[in-house]
Amino acid sequence: MLAEKRILLIIGGGIAAFKALDLIRRLRERGAAVTPVLTRAGAQFVTPLSVSALAGQKVFSDLFDLTDEAEMGHIELSRSADLVVVAPATADLMAKMATGLANDLASTLLLATDTQVLLAPAMNVRMWQHPATQRNLATLAGDGIRTVGPNEGDMACGEHGPGRMAEPLEIVTAIEAALGAGPLAGRRVIVTSGPTHEPIDPVRYIANRSSGAQGTAIARALAALGAQVVFVTGPASVPPPEGVEAVQVETAQQMLDAVNAALPADAAVFAAAVADWRVTGASDSKIKKSPGGGAPALDFAENPDILATVSALKAGRPALVVGFAAETDDVIANANAKRARKGCDWILANDVSPGTGIMGGAENAVTLITAEGAEDWPRMTKDEVARRLADRIAGALA
Ligand code: CTP
Repeated sequence: MLAEKRILLIIGGGIAAFKALDLIRRLRERGAAVTPVLTRAGAQFVTPLSVSALAGQKVFSDLFDLTDEAEMGHIELSRSADLVVVAPATADLMAKMATGLANDLASTLLLATDTQVLLAPAMNVRMWQHPATQRNLATLAGDGIRTVGPNEGDMACGEHGPGRMAEPLEIVTAIEAALGAGPLAGRRVIVTSGPTHEPIDPVRYIANRSSGAQGTAIARALAALGAQVVFVTGPASVPPPEGVEAVQVETAQQMLDAVNAALPADAAVFAAAVADWRVTGASDSKIKKSPGGGAPALDFAENPDILATVSALKAGRPALVVGFAAETDDVIANANAKRARKGCDWILANDVSPGTGIMGGAENAVTLITAEGAEDWPRMTKDEVARRLADRIAGALA
């Protein structure tokens, strides 16, 4: 909820400006007060009248309007909010912000504000991917400016790719996260992710094909709902998400130690593809080939099962423990058995047979198994699976 939160909403000039009207409605439904600022270009796409009608407030649109300056100066306006949101944030506005230009009301407010700023970029895909925009984005991130989106998809200009403004509800979620007002605010959640590397010698290791994409998406989605996330990750091929406490580990034993150190927590999601075995007596020096000496023999020991260990804790067990079951055969039966064996509350079962393209791919098809039964989710992106799971976790912890 956003009761009594004051949002200064700057509406830039882009076709996505129409979505800002829905955003205003959604924010007000949640109790926020929205003060709208419409740039000159923004007013080409939505009218001041519709913006002010939805916001229930006058629209600020001209830096040098003397009446406005007498009622509320632009400096005061820039500081009167709990959060400044720019939606849509155009390439032009981002460039102005990155260079510190202040030649109209919106850019002046953005330079004068001492409040957090959240951008919802929206532009043509090539404009988004242009090195100048990406440079500006990096500068703004370095300045502590948050962003939500853009999303990938078909664009009004007929092209396809990243550039679509995030949907109003996604922006609301990002606003709640920025204000620490999401449904998981004050909740601590541990997420494991990625593969583990089990050393054979200093240069060789045993690993698996996990990319860490699903675990990373889950950590991001939980953080977006306001959770304090400890993200314990093996050597993944995707970077950790922003806004989480990332703990980088290599082996299963290190992952268990990091999880133990992160407890207590309200919930834990074990998305890592942990190696079941490690090489005993891994060599401290590189194993050399000796001519005619044959292949070295490796001995294995079983790794600790992190999910089972945490599920079995007598004291300090998270209220909700979620595991994954990566299966290739009898997915539901195996996952049900795994849930019972490991003692966790929920299992997300997925079929990782090579034909599914799930391992290392962008999509996932999962079945959520709880004490109440099995629930098939349609095939969706790993980000969508993550958002849906985060919503369910928020519901369970409410
Ligand atoms: N897991 C874990 N620690 C391990 C092994 C697995 O925490 N040492 C967790 C995984 O993060 C996942 C769940 O247990 O949430 C299931 O992992 P999976 O590899 O599918 O199952 P296994 O326990 O390895 O069982 P099997 O190999 O028989 O399928």
